[in-house]
Amino acid sequence: MNDFLSYEFIDSSNCINTFDEAPLWSSRFGFLLLDNIKLKPNLTVIDLGSGTGFPLLEIAERLGNSSKIYGIDPWENANKKAKQKIKEYNLFNVEIIEQSAEKLPFKEKSVDLIVSNLGINNFKNKELILQECLRVLKINGKLAITTNLYGHWKEFYSIFESTLHECKYPYLIDNLHQEQIQRGTKENISKLFVNQGFSITNSIESQFTMNFLNGTAFLNHHFIKCGWLSSWFSLFPDSAIPKIFKKLEYNLNIYAEEHKQISLSIPMLFLEGKKL
Ligand SMILES: C[S@@+](CC[C@H](N)C(=O)[O-])C[C@H]1O[C@@H](n2cnc3c(N)ncnc32)[C@H](O)[C@@H]1O
Repeated sequence: MNDFLSYEFIDSSNCINTFDEAPLWSSRFGFLLLDNIKLKPNLTVIDLGSGTGFPLLEIAERLGNSSKIYGIDPWENANKKAKQKIKEYNLFNVEIIEQSAEKLPFKEKSVDLIVSNLGINNFKNKELILQECLRVLKINGKLAITTNLYGHWKEFYSIFESTLHECKYPYLIDNLHQEQIQRGTKENISKLFVNQGFSITNSIESQFTMNFLNGTAFLNHHFIKCGWLSSWFSLFPDSAIPKIFKKLEYNLNIYAEEHKQISLSIPMLFLEGKKL
């Protein structure tokens, strides 16, 4: 098994071509979204943060050719992958627009539905993006998002925090807390919607778990390395990283021995707002 400490995320075409495991994570949120949006004919739809094409292409195929769906994402390599799939699936009702959702290239009141699966935690300027959504939506148009919530992997973060204490870096714990609170709560995401002018029409909270044999398996899992490791590394000085992460791996392994595995909980939210 590769050593996770020497892993470096490189945003290259080759990396993205092996990225198809990612929808396994996205799919739990995607099902929550797909089960709760209303399908109708003749819709204009936007998927914000469409990444490698999920749920963009699934929605396009479920809606069929009377609707048009646009994927907005600034991530060049992910968009390339989404375009390959559009070609491969022979879809004519989808278009990828490579840019940030902070400025949507649509006229006022021209869109019926905006969705975003796991986008909101990644948007730096959430308020601006929601304002843009409000501008382009028709009256009664809907914005429907799914996201993981604060409390995500709380079992892991609790071990991470005690590891920082043990390593005599208690002053770095605040960095870890800052990373955790980037994930919202149902209350503060709903407030964000309402403050930007949306009326909440539906909200559903749910939860699932991810199990790993132990900390070594967790930290070396390619999706953990690709999706999370560099953001954890960025929280600490370079010189402290080997000590912290070796101790973290050890502590996760001790926990796994005691509990027979590591079971991590993921709280999630479907939130839908309407433009009045
Ligand atoms: C966690 S990924 C989710 C991708 C996909 N929707 C899925 O479910 O697998 C978040 C996506 O948001 C995109 N993103 C980040 N900032 C953005 C912005 N300002 N506007 C549009 N997309 C953005 C990222 O490039 C990334 O593709």
